Amino acid sequence: MALLDKHKVIETNATLLLVLSLLVVSIGGIVQIAPLFYLENTIEEVEGMRPYSPLELEGREVYLREGCYVCHSQMIRPLRDEVERYGPYSLAAESMYDRPFQWGSKRTGPDLARVGGRYSDEWHVDHMVDPQSVVPESVMPKYGYLMDRVVTGEYIDELMSTHKLLGVPYTDEMIATAKADFKAQNDPWADTDGLLERYPGAQVRNFDGQEGITEMDALIAYLQMLGTLVDFSTFTPDASR
Ligand code: HEC
Repeated sequence: MALLDKHKVIETNATLLLVLSLLVVSIGGIVQIAPLFYLENTIEEVEGMRPYSPLELEGREVYLREGCYVCHSQMIRPLRDEVERYGPYSLAAESMYDRPFQWGSKRTGPDLARVGGRYSDEWHVDHMVDPQSVVPESVMPKYGYLMDRVVTGEYIDELMSTHKLLGVPYTDEMIATAKADFKAQNDPWADTDGLLERYPGAQVRNFDGQEGITEMDALIAYLQMLGTLVDFSTFTPDASR
């Protein structure tokens, strides 16, 4: 009874009720929110993940600008039918350098998280120029104009600095060599030792088969990288976490 009487004091005093409610709610909030500040600890690091190379990053910009995420997700869920169709389910660490993330919530087209290496560059060019020419029932729009849009990579170092600001571990060296790496990845004859040391597994070639670096080159470089960085034939999840 005494306890209820004390509670009555709170219930009949609006200010006190408000203050105490806020206190209780904020304790709940802290319990939920504070661990998120240590999120780094909850992402299991995986071998092979690296920041995107300058050309891949430029291709990713094209992907964002064209709104590919409106029809394509990049997250394979841990469900049997997804894993059978697309490959190993996506790991959190695989999107750790994605600013903004591309998980998506709409699949008018297939998930693209592991599309890298699934098709040839020529297939991608044909498909982007005219999707119905390779998949007759496709409802994907045509993106042929990307073939005509030259990218100079003029601002790629600044873009990388911005990503660095957001937490992507680009080193000063990577930013200093960004413009050269950008060109080298599209040139089969270039000296790519430095590029491959900085971005292991980066694929070097003329992606669209045309002279010069176009948005098509950058986009295909990005698509061909997706899902190829982590080697799932040797990956074993860390069950201790
Ligand atoms: C209006 C929805 C739509 C948009 C926007 C769209 N796509 Fe698609 N995409 C599809 C559909 C539907 C398919 C499946 C049929 C096909 O292969 O064309 C597809 C297939 C693909 C495939 C083949 C995937 C596979 O595993 O077979 C790739 C790669 C692709 N799209 C890339 C892109 C890129 C890059 C963009 C942005 C430049 C984009 N798409 C924009 C609808 C879309």
